[in-house]
Amino acid sequence: MSYARIAELSSHAGQSVTVRGWVTHLRSSGKVAFIVLRDGTGILQAVVVKSQVPAEVWERFGALTQEACVAITGEVRADARAPGGHEMGLAALDVIGASPLDYPIQPKEHGVDYLLDHRHFWLRTPRQVAIARIRSEVEQAINDFFYEHGFLRVDTPILTAAIGERSGLFATEYFDLGNAYLAQTGQLYGEAAAAAFGKIYTFGPTFRAEKSKTRRHLTEFWMIEPEVAFIDSDENMQLQEDMLVFIVRRVLDRKQAELKELEREVAKLEAAASAPYPRIDYTDAVATLQKKGSAVTWGDDLGAEDETLLVEDYSTPVFVKNYPKEAKAFYMKENPADPRTVLCNDCLAPEGFGEIIGGSQREDDLEKILRRIREEKLPEDAYDWYLALRKYGTFPHSGYGLGLERTVAWICGTQHIRECIAFPRMMHRLRP
Ligand code: 4AD
Ligand code: MG
Repeated sequence: MSYARIAELSSHAGQSVTVRGWVTHLRSSGKVAFIVLRDGTGILQAVVVKSQVPAEVWERFGALTQEACVAITGEVRADARAPGGHEMGLAALDVIGASPLDYPIQPKEHGVDYLLDHRHFWLRTPRQVAIARIRSEVEQAINDFFYEHGFLRVDTPILTAAIGERSGLFATEYFDLGNAYLAQTGQLYGEAAAAAFGKIYTFGPTFRAEKSKTRRHLTEFWMIEPEVAFIDSDENMQLQEDMLVFIVRRVLDRKQAELKELEREVAKLEAAASAPYPRIDYTDAVATLQKKGSAVTWGDDLGAEDETLLVEDYSTPVFVKNYPKEAKAFYMKENPADPRTVLCNDCLAPEGFGEIIGGSQREDDLEKILRRIREEKLPEDAYDWYLALRKYGTFPHSGYGLGLERTVAWICGTQHIRECIAFPRMMHRLRP
């Protein structure tokens, strides 16, 4: 028997093959019946004509249910009208795994909590499949971009001592060494690696025990963090822009079917793929926001509503740069032109999707970074090796972190990032 995947059927036109997959639709007139099958590579419609198949095949067809796993055999013909572009004339049908009638996801509206409880099945539906395929394309594009630009991928630890960003840490017992913490960022290790390899990026899961219940927060999310020796904050923004243009172009070039399934306005993504992206000084951004009626005052970090208000005049991502020191992390380099601020940027996605990147030039002066660690009352001991990077051959360097799920949510046009990872982890969700 010759098995075929649905995506490969065009090379089997006119032949008899067996395709294995799950039943997504069934319909019958009593004499002619149709099965739509999904195998993960595509969908295939098979036609069963009662008078042309053995009685037991017709009976087996009659007992089929949604999501049963089956093997169907028959001749494949190209048919532009059929879903998937081919049709099979069914000659034989075998049930591999039956599925009882109470399959949890029915063709009706389910609430999102119910769908999340059944994420293991929800993943099979067309919209979720499209999002997962775009996520995978974005991941591949990121790896390709950095590979083509001579970066080394460095995989940094997930179990760490207590260092990272300011938000909450997840702790777990670690033998005789006290607590280990799940990494909130790979950046500090990335900085060490940049002095060894010049241009690096990390790509891995990061963890934040924040009690945020917004549509933009997960407790476990994936972050890509390049770190580059000898580039400044402006060159750092250029790298972000080049990378984002590359990613969006790649999805536009290769994932049109998925964008269509998601009913994404492709013209908006086309606009977002055209550089240059505006670079707005934080101080100017605050003035603009105040004119638009925001209550933000100089010194605040920008909230989600402010971010939406600020980007409404643009069709590309927008950089906001040089935030006040107290709004940002201790490791950002003091701005020589205005020491109240640091050389950093956030990158805000258009259409109100909010911050997708946070980046900065790093403080490379040992005395200045020590002062910041003490001001923030951070555990100095835990940072000994990080500080030593400033003692032995300190070097100007910059980097950033791209949130994968937020980027995918923007590209897919989904309002909540929980759909942009296979099994989301949130404050109230650890299952499935
Ligand atoms: O702005 P953040 O906290 O920056 C860092 O972690 C730096 N160490 C990055 C660096 O310079 N190497 O996080 C970076 C990005 C955010 O812009 C956002 O896209 C994403 O990570 N992010 C989250 N995504 C989902 N859920 C959360 N709780 C997130 N927190 C941050
Ligand atoms: Mg940030």
